[in-house]
Amino acid sequence: SAPVDVDLSKIAPGAQITASWRSLPITIIHRTAQTISALKTPDQPLRDPDSHVHQQPDYARNWHRSLRPEFGVYVAVCTHLGCIPALDDDGYTCPCHGSGFDLAGRVLVNQPAPYNLPVPPHDFASATTLRLG
Ligand code: FES
Repeated sequence: SAPVDVDLSKIAPGAQITASWRSLPITIIHRTAQTISALKTPDQPLRDPDSHVHQQPDYARNWHRSLRPEFGVYVAVCTHLGCIPALDDDGYTCPCHGSGFDLAGRVLVNQPAPYNLPVPPHDFASATTLRLG
């Protein structure tokens, strides 16, 4: 299917939008400097801190799980039973059974979700255009 382009200039720092790619909801978050430093030294234990369990592009297998630290791109489908996690102050929470993820889509310890939110293939078509697929 065709790639989907997303205009990043419309996402203010701290905000996110949801795009659709291959019928999946994709959350795109514009992280603040404060969020970025919090991701680098998380204050909550992570179940899969190095993303060993889950499939994702190699270029997203880093502490911010993306190409550019200021933008996170995740498939917003809970890895437990498929509900759609919602953004809150410091991460995502699944409405169905409460799994918590940080702002890099990393699942916290002792959650029903077994691994991190997936990262879809993505690239930057320009400085302000994200291309999904
Ligand atoms: Fe998300 Fe169960 S579906 S915690």
